[in-house]
Amino acid sequence: MIRMVEGGVRQWLSPLVYLSSNWISLLGVVAVTTASILWLLHLPLYLRGDVDNPYTGILTFLVLPGVFFVGLVLIPLGIVREIRRRRKRGEPARVFPPLEWHNPELRRLVAFFGVTTLANLIIGSQLTYRAVHYMDSVTFCGKTCHKVMAPEFTAYQGSPHSRVACVACHIGPGASWFVRSKLSGVGQVFATILNTYPRPIPTPVANLRPARETCEQCHWPQKFGADRLRILTKFAEDEANTRMLTVLLMHIGGGHEKRGIHGAHLDPGVTIEYAHADPGRQTIPWVRYSNSITGRTTVYLAADATPETVRNLPRRVMDCMDCHNRPTHAFDSPTAAVDRAMAQGQIPPTLPWIRKVGVELLQKEYSDRDAVARLIPAALEQYYRKEHPAVFAKFRDEIVRAGRALVEIHQRNVFPEMKVTWGTYPNNIGHMDFPGCFRCHDDRTSADGRKITQDCNSCHRVLAMDEPAPKILSDLGLLQANGH
Ligand code: HEC
Ligand code: HEC
Ligand code: HEC
Ligand code: HEC
Ligand code: HEC
Repeated sequence: MIRMVEGGVRQWLSPLVYLSSNWISLLGVVAVTTASILWLLHLPLYLRGDVDNPYTGILTFLVLPGVFFVGLVLIPLGIVREIRRRRKRGEPARVFPPLEWHNPELRRLVAFFGVTTLANLIIGSQLTYRAVHYMDSVTFCGKTCHKVMAPEFTAYQGSPHSRVACVACHIGPGASWFVRSKLSGVGQVFATILNTYPRPIPTPVANLRPARETCEQCHWPQKFGADRLRILTKFAEDEANTRMLTVLLMHIGGGHEKRGIHGAHLDPGVTIEYAHADPGRQTIPWVRYSNSITGRTTVYLAADATPETVRNLPRRVMDCMDCHNRPTHAFDSPTAAVDRAMAQGQIPPTLPWIRKVGVELLQKEYSDRDAVARLIPAALEQYYRKEHPAVFAKFRDEIVRAGRALVEIHQRNVFPEMKVTWGTYPNNIGHMDFPGCFRCHDDRTSADGRKITQDCNSCHRVLAMDEPAPKILSDLGLLQANGH
């Protein structure tokens, strides 16, 4: 009886004998046990409903099963290879060693399983917990692939969203989108390692999740509505850097207002689709407005388009991102950046000619970031020394400060390694530096005489434009000697 049981067990265990002597199967065993144990450790996290964390899901749904199945395949693979090898050499198939403790082969096997399991338990519990948190962090997204993400990470740091995690917009909550984004992420990781990723990183992001599912975690349309006063400060290219103020009352709309910018595109029932002629979505020859509540559908064609020329173009449903494509990675134009730095005082507005020469220096080409840091301050000093010696004598400190601020502006916006320079990434809000709203709002007319309007007061009321001292601001008590 005992002998029969022993024989059965032996037979059943006999493949194991090959494990101790071939490294492929050993590797498989390690993989399988590691994955199983880590998965078990993850289970409680999952049962508690922590699915909102995309990386928990990546680990439990993608990485661990991947490791597990690879391990499962490796075990028989190693055994088959071992049997073949022995057969080739004419060695007899091995019999199972006696199950006795003094047999070194068995001891090795037992010790091996014991040590790896213990190590898995200790290391695994620590590592997974931390890895999940780490991968979710801005540090991981922005810094791990430092060079690749440097432009986006830099712009992000100074943005209204600098406290919002990258994954909140790029992946969002729920289980299906992290799988999608991580499947493409695997490709991106390889591209980074192999150094084959595109420079600059192309925009728009092709597989970005629809904005309404990400942005609306924090900004829901019902909350919009009130008009918003925007005061833009600019400086002229004259000796005195004359300050000019533009005042706009933005008709944000939406929410309960049922009008305005958000209302026109996002109110319940409204769907706006468009066809774009370029991958960057900058040329939009066809737009269709439909409203399921009023039942109206209107098709607009650009002046130079016909139904035939737009038939095969890719289409898209408009969402937040078609206007707010730079909510956080906002790069400036040289003029906008210098205006802002002057308004905030980093570049002293009292320094004669600085608006003009500052912008010129930013627009020059430099080989790398070190060259920028050396050449801009030197060129600025040289300019004043040669062209305006009196200014140079009087404004030494200001010139040094301005030089430093210009270097900072350049390094925040231009990334030679990533081929990102002024204007690489268009900003679709507005219509000054890029077509933006005017991609559609060019007064194009539908067959029944409706328009996508370019009326200056439909999106904003222009309360003042490039005035040194707008009356509206003094009326509101907002006009001050410095700043606005
Ligand atoms: C407020 C939401 C938001 C946050 C937070 C955010 N992004 Fe983005 N990101 C976007 C949008 C919107 C785009 C442009 C999408 C488009 O045009 O299709 C984008 C584009 C990108 C691109 C593509 C290149 C480009 O500039 O268009 C990269 C790379 C990127 N983001 C990385 C990051 C990293 C790294 C972080 C965290 C440091 C981050 N993002 C945080 C919204 C966000
Ligand atoms: C996790 C929350 C969160 C998400 C997700 C988020 N935002 Fe924001 N957003 C904020 C916060 C916080 C602010 C700053 C509010 C403030 O300054 O009063 C902000 C500000 C803004 C502003 C105003 C900026 C300004 O100049 O005042 C815009 C526009 C905006 N977000 C658009 C977006 C868009 C578009 C998306 C989706 C791509 C998005 N946000 C996703 C939290 C979020
Ligand atoms: C048709 C273009 C367009 C679309 C679509 C759009 N926005 Fe806006 N949004 C604007 C403009 C323009 C402003 C005003 C910017 C300014 O004040 O300079 C704005 C302002 C905002 C602000 C700041 C509001 C305030 O009171 O300061 C937030 C937040 C915002 N949008 C979020 C969103 C979100 C989220 C979506 C998608 C659900 C969205 N927007 C869709 C054009 C758009
Ligand atoms: C993809 C095309 C497209 C883009 C880009 C676009 N719009 Fe529109 N917009 C439309 C359409 C279509 C309508 C509605 C026309 C209609 O009622 O048939 C509209 C209507 C409006 C209206 C209402 C106009 C009125 O007559 O009352 C405002 C305001 C507006 N848009 C603001 C903006 C702003 C601001 C931007 C840029 C940030 C912008 N739009 C970008 C397509 C676009
Ligand atoms: C479809 C909507 C729309 C129409 C039509 C429109 N604007 Fe604008 N305008 C905007 C938006 C959006 C901004 C950007 C505000 C911001 O900076 O966030 C803007 C910004 C501006 C600015 C300040 C930008 C700068 O950098 O100086 C001026 C000036 C301006 N518009 C003037 C005009 C004039 C003049 C017209 C008529 C020809 C006009 N706009 C028509 C939407 C519109």
